[in-house]
Amino acid sequence: MSNSDKDRVYIFDTTLRDGEQSPGASMNLEEKLRVALLLEEMGVDIIEAGFPIASQGDFEAVRAVAGKVRNSIVAGLARAGKKDIDRAWEALKGAKRPRIHTFLSTSPLHMKYKLQMEPQAVHQAVIDSVTHARNLCDDVEWSPEDGSRTEHDFLCRTVESAIKAGASTINIPDTVGYAVPEEFAQLIRMLFDRVPNIGKAIVSVHCHNDLGLAVANSLAAVNAGARQVECTINGLGERAGNAALEEIVMALRTRHDRMPYTTGIKTEHITKASHLISTITGFPVQPNKAIVGANAFAHESGIHQDGMLKHAGTYEIMTPESVGLNRSTLVMGKHSGRHAFRAKLKELGFELGDNALEDAFKRFKDLADKKKNVYDDDLVALVEDEVVRDHARLKFVSLQVMCGSRGPQMADLELDIDGTVHNVQARGDGPVDATFNAIKKLVPHTAQLQLFQVHAVTEGTDAQAKVTVRLAEDGKSVNGQGSDTDTLVASARAYIHALNKLLTKREKTAPAALTA
Ligand code: KIV
Ligand code: ZN
Repeated sequence: MSNSDKDRVYIFDTTLRDGEQSPGASMNLEEKLRVALLLEEMGVDIIEAGFPIASQGDFEAVRAVAGKVRNSIVAGLARAGKKDIDRAWEALKGAKRPRIHTFLSTSPLHMKYKLQMEPQAVHQAVIDSVTHARNLCDDVEWSPEDGSRTEHDFLCRTVESAIKAGASTINIPDTVGYAVPEEFAQLIRMLFDRVPNIGKAIVSVHCHNDLGLAVANSLAAVNAGARQVECTINGLGERAGNAALEEIVMALRTRHDRMPYTTGIKTEHITKASHLISTITGFPVQPNKAIVGANAFAHESGIHQDGMLKHAGTYEIMTPESVGLNRSTLVMGKHSGRHAFRAKLKELGFELGDNALEDAFKRFKDLADKKKNVYDDDLVALVEDEVVRDHARLKFVSLQVMCGSRGPQMADLELDIDGTVHNVQARGDGPVDATFNAIKKLVPHTAQLQLFQVHAVTEGTDAQAKVTVRLAEDGKSVNGQGSDTDTLVASARAYIHALNKLLTKREKTAPAALTA
């Protein structure tokens, strides 16, 4: 191994698997593909695309990602059983670089209460599952779930056996986010000291953020010899989430003096990836979140601004450009043409098909008519709207709302359903309720509204509103997004987007049954 290989940290992104497992964060196949392709473009080494046995949707998403991604390794998760592993392989086998990631709990607590298995049986199941996975796929990763709370002797024994059975990556999870950095680093060092064949595998870590220590624990582990880090965009994940990819990568890059390791991540894609995940899941990023929060590079106090004007290094340890934040955010006006629009979108990382481009261009012109300044963020919101709507069955056409203190609140809506425009009026307790009631009249459904969230894309009273709506039906939830300078139009678009996703889920619904 050359020095550069020795110091290379592989980035394993599990946004599509562990991230997607967080309540309300589910993504559909098309969204997962978009995320996977962006992760690949970013230089993510391994993309964990899902848990194929979990559902038909998960299986299909992993298969679709495996079929499209060419440069990154595509991993699928499987419990220790043969059925799980076969299903994972079925989904992965079309990948250019497939990996089966199989796991089994090894801590006393998990073995006794969750698995109800004796340690000896667990040990044998590790050998059997890794052997089976390795017979199907050359690249096998094994994880002892709840590894950080596993007895050291047992951890060493299972890790050694997993490597003997053919695992080339050993991933140590801090499943419940219990570890603290020095202790976790010691655990990794202990494995290097005590497992005789550890040199045959890459040691990986997978840290949860229950105590806010996921990134610190991951970096401590890298210092102790781990060379793969499992993480997610925006730190998305179960409970308090997983280690945030952007924080790991930027910490390694910015403090290379202290942590002389490299990753293959093109950091300029970080902001875009963060926006994409936040848009798809409807999980906003807190303004003071490291690296990707709206305030991460904002300087408001006079003293700081003065320092920044004299030398950016006074208060900035990394440049906004290094994470893909453009300082010149003022873009085009109403006189900009199609070519300039297309070129600007390309610069922002979007390449639309001709129809979607034409629709987005029309909406850009409308926006430029209404809004004095059109910023990059406005364009991103607008285009994300267009991308999600591309093949939708329900399309927003127009909305007129009567509202205010004199009541009653009324919505008059036009909606395109499978190519035919329908018109309806409805009342409600307020303009949003009236708008949603109008949609419901045209598309009867039993889904419950779980979340209605509005935020401004930029500053000023003419800013676009970005609305997220979460609908739940039969135990499944979907998020929809919409943006517009009119908050009610954005709300209607978001609701319709969520309904489109529900319709995709109920694939068998006949189009005729949709209209009232
Ligand atoms: O947190 C965890 O233990 C996991 C494993 C499946 C790797 O997600
Ligand atoms: Zn996890």
